[in-house]
Amino acid sequence: MSFQHDDNTNYPPGFEWYKTERFTYSSLQDNALTEIELNGKRIGILKRQERVYAFAAKCPHAGVPLCTGWLDPQGRIVCPEHKYRFDPANGRNTTGEGYKLFTYPVQLRGDEVWIGLMPPVI
Ligand code: FES
Repeated sequence: MSFQHDDNTNYPPGFEWYKTERFTYSSLQDNALTEIELNGKRIGILKRQERVYAFAAKCPHAGVPLCTGWLDPQGRIVCPEHKYRFDPANGRNTTGEGYKLFTYPVQLRGDEVWIGLMPPVI
């Protein structure tokens, strides 16, 4: 593992890391929001300032796809529908409406990008 920006090592039972097959770290464009599917989940991806962030693809307010939005100058995700903003590092709703964007831990293993997921709820 070359890089990890998730310090939580106490992952719950069933937690697993999944490699993204669609891209590598070096193939990701800076400051571009990209939606992928990984292990049955829709996940938003952002590479910015040499870090990769993973978050729920849908806005926690009303479910609009966040990757159709944009970034503000501070790198926060702006939802295209009602313009609520979210910090991709921790999901904080920085415009203060009280929502929380779910975020996923990310590891870079060389050029590979791995995302930590819980097993699907059945
Ligand atoms: S749906 Fe995203 S801010 Fe309302």
